[in-house]
Amino acid sequence: MGSNSHLQTLSNPTTLVIFGASGNLAQIKLFPALYELLAYGHLPERLSIVAIFRQSSAALDTVMSQVEVTMLRQHRECDPAILARLKSLIRPIIMDSTNQEDYYRLRDMLDGIDHEFSVAHQRIFYLAIPPSIFKPVIACLGAAELNKEYDGVARRIFIEKPFGSDLASARDLIDSIKTHFEEHQIYRIDHYLAKETVQNILTFRFQNPLIRSIWNRDGIDYIHIRALEKIDIEGRSDFYESLGALRDLLQSHLLQLMALIMMDAPTAMESHAIHEQKNALLGAIKLPTEPIDEFANRGQYQGYREEVNNPESQVETYAIVKLGVDLPEWHGVPVVLETGKALDHKDTSIEVVFRDRHNIDSGRNTLTIHVQPDEGIELQLTAKSPGFGYETRPVSMNFSYNTAFEGKNPEAYERVLFDAIAGDQTLFSTSAEVLACWEILEPIIQTWRNHNSIPESYTKGSEGPVGGIGIRKSVTT
Ligand code: BG6
Repeated sequence: MGSNSHLQTLSNPTTLVIFGASGNLAQIKLFPALYELLAYGHLPERLSIVAIFRQSSAALDTVMSQVEVTMLRQHRECDPAILARLKSLIRPIIMDSTNQEDYYRLRDMLDGIDHEFSVAHQRIFYLAIPPSIFKPVIACLGAAELNKEYDGVARRIFIEKPFGSDLASARDLIDSIKTHFEEHQIYRIDHYLAKETVQNILTFRFQNPLIRSIWNRDGIDYIHIRALEKIDIEGRSDFYESLGALRDLLQSHLLQLMALIMMDAPTAMESHAIHEQKNALLGAIKLPTEPIDEFANRGQYQGYREEVNNPESQVETYAIVKLGVDLPEWHGVPVVLETGKALDHKDTSIEVVFRDRHNIDSGRNTLTIHVQPDEGIELQLTAKSPGFGYETRPVSMNFSYNTAFEGKNPEAYERVLFDAIAGDQTLFSTSAEVLACWEILEPIIQTWRNHNSIPESYTKGSEGPVGGIGIRKSVTT
């Protein structure tokens, strides 16, 4: 995690191989992130990018124009000279990623790059492709021996969530990847972990004695972690129909946030120690013993079925679950995880509500970590209103990234690619974490599947389904 190690390792000659180079993820996230890393001088001097396209090499021009459009739409500067430099690093190859023969051509190309520069490059295979072809692509890489590390020169594979769609399929995926790549070579991306505010959680918790002393069941009443989105599924029908809100976002991003918020202090701020503590916390998360309907709810926004062209769809676009942690320091502290699309506002945050042990009843103290938008930390306290009386009202103490720090925060995918090149696994999910997250939610997934439970309908632009609001309120009163 230390920045010095990054500075050393980023000098490593690197070939980044992007599968799915003309896909949505590559265009919207990966190439813009590479642009920024290049613009700020964060890429190694010897970097080649191999972009895999299914058809026509003209695809590269299309992708580059799309990158420019994306960046301008996001109000980011896009200097044509930097874009041209980025393009000059990219070598397109047309191949069918499920055809073994094509991998020998890919291997020749990668060997050619090593010869051209007279140095063996570490190779990073980034699978920006649908999860349904992870297994065949990984098997083809293995059969072409593109997984083999020689003389300490790394071979790494990067995959995007979802890692399976339930416990059994996640186990199967993990096992099949492990036949070709070892755990130190596998980087499972959870882009939430690469967000600046999320990286700050451990520092904030463990390097501030005041916070550390109240961060347990004696100090905290309940925790609410949410990723509420205003956007709907934005045309990603196939992707969303195969998953739904619980498996798309709650199973991965929100459980990871919960682990960071409640895990014990690691013995050191480095990958192994952090993963060890996260894993211990995830293993202790328990569902309440009540019937599932009382602590979990799901909803579907009106109009979703027409959008995905499936009048029978029972896929949820909203999910909420109340959990507990079976550890002495967290006993009796409920944690609510909530996510949904097409809601009335965007808010990804972690709200920690402190206990009122003396029952003063003058208002709660709440600490909110704003992940996005308006990244920062806010502490709500009670103050006396100015004047002759003694009325009180809640006031906020704020720390905002925009005003506290100068310069630009790297976007999550910039961090992901930076760490990919540096070989730092701290911000990636381990196989044990992925399995633990599926295990926690498996009873809910099975119940919703087996009982054909119908998600509660909610209006687009609302607070979500009534049942969900009820679960949220159950911890606040
Ligand atoms: C992705 C989900 O992992 O995260 C999307 O698949 C979701 O459904 C997205 O919209 C949210 O990411 P962010 O960074 O905008 O909060």
